[in-house]
Amino acid sequence: MIKLQNVYKEYQLDREVIFTALKNINFTVNQGEFSAIMGPSGSGKSTLMHIIGLLDKPTKGKVFINTKEILKLNDDELSTLRNEFVGFVFQQFNLIPKLTVEENILLPTIYARKNLSFDPAKKAREIMKKFGIDNKANSYPNKISGGQQQRVAIARALIMSPKLILADEPTGNLDTKTGDQIIDLLEDLNQNEKLTVLIVTHETNIAKKTKRIIKIKDGEIQT
Ligand SMILES: Nc1ncnc2c1ncn2[C@@H]1O[C@H](COP(=O)(O)OP(=O)(O)OP(=O)(O)O)[C@@H](O)[C@H]1O
Ligand SMILES: [Mg+2]
Repeated sequence: MIKLQNVYKEYQLDREVIFTALKNINFTVNQGEFSAIMGPSGSGKSTLMHIIGLLDKPTKGKVFINTKEILKLNDDELSTLRNEFVGFVFQQFNLIPKLTVEENILLPTIYARKNLSFDPAKKAREIMKKFGIDNKANSYPNKISGGQQQRVAIARALIMSPKLILADEPTGNLDTKTGDQIIDLLEDLNQNEKLTVLIVTHETNIAKKTKRIIKIKDGEIQT
């Protein structure tokens, strides 16, 4: 579903110094996969996720989504595609403190430019119910637990029915038990909703629950 071809990500640090965060990445995300990305701090995991998730463009190389080459899309086309295709989940949850749980979940539907083919409020209620957070719909993020906040973040990632979920250390701020529940939830979405799920993690126990482990070191995928 997503293919990276000879992808480089370079940062100009100084006038003469270029730092290569990703080197010649050739990588395919297959529809329906449930995989982990592992590697030391600074190895390029988040950079890779940002490129796969269309948040960032490579400095060299090509990215295809299905058969569309993303460098050929303009910024509007790219953000529309991203909003419909990818849901992001982060270590720090990234919820908006001034919005309630329900309002946070509905946010991507407000950014959507097209008319939606579903009733956002109804769908938000269904997801909250499924995740056991429906009793927190009107609460603010600082009034609910970390595990609940991450469920809200996943609900927000799901509201537009994306094909792909990218989770960058989703359990990093959770205790082991809560973290395991979040991974089980992501696994359930993969198995029962046919979502493609990529998880960045430092934890071997979490990586072992996935079907494929991708290792990255110094900006290169290890084979
Ligand atoms: N905007 C930037 N400018 C310069 N260097 C950057 C920038 N963003 C990232 N880097 C560098 O690119 C490398 C990869 O960063 P990245 O965030 O992808 O690492 P990571 O594997 O996600 O690490 P962590 O496990 O700590 O989250 C790091 O060495 C980082 O310092
Ligand atoms: Mg990172």
